[in-house]
Amino acid sequence: MVHWTDAERDTINTFWGKIDHEEVGHQALTRVLVVYPWTQRYFSTFGNLSNATAIAGNPKVRAHGKRVLDALGDAITHLDNVSATYASLSQLHSEKLHVDPENFRLLGETLIIVLAGQFGAAFTPAIQATWQKLLAVVIAALSKQYH
Ligand code: HEM
Repeated sequence: MVHWTDAERDTINTFWGKIDHEEVGHQALTRVLVVYPWTQRYFSTFGNLSNATAIAGNPKVRAHGKRVLDALGDAITHLDNVSATYASLSQLHSEKLHVDPENFRLLGETLIIVLAGQFGAAFTPAIQATWQKLLAVVIAALSKQYH
C-alpha cells in the first residue's frame, strides 16, 4: 500500500482547494489533444477537434476535462484506497474504451504543466513532487484492470 505522510496529505488537499477544477481539467485535456494528436481518435464523438482553437473551444472537451478532474478528486478523498476507488473506471478504460494506458501518463504530464503555468513559483518543487506521486498512484490504479 502507498504510504502518505501527513505533510503530503496536507499538500495535496491544500493545493486541490486552490484549483479551479473545470478550468484546469479543460486545459489539461486540451493540451493532451493538441500536443499528442493521436489521442483524438478516442474522442470521435466529440465533434470538431481539427485544430488547437477548435479543441480549446469544444464544449465536450471542457465538460470531459471537468469529469476527469472530478475523478481525480475522488482519488484525493480516498488516498488510502485509490485502486479500489478506480476499479470500475480502470475496467471501463480498458475493456470498453480501449484507451492505451500510456495516455494516462500524458494527461498527468499536461496537468503538471497547467498547474506550473497557473501557479508559477508557488508550484514549488516540493509541491510538484507530491503531485507527481499522486498522479503516479492514480495512473497505476487506472492501469490496474488491463490484462
Ligand atoms: C471517460 C476519467 C484519462 C479517454 C472517462 C470518465 C471518467 C474518466 C471519470 C467518465 C466515465 C463514465 O462515463 O462513467 C479519467 C481519468 C484519467 C483519464 C481520471 C486520467 C487521470 C483518459 C485518457 C484518455 C481517456 C488519457 C484518452 C486519451 C476517455 C474516453 C472516455 C473517458 C474516450 C469516454 C468519453 C465519452 O464518450 O464521454 N474518463 N480519464 N481518459 N475517458 Fe478517461
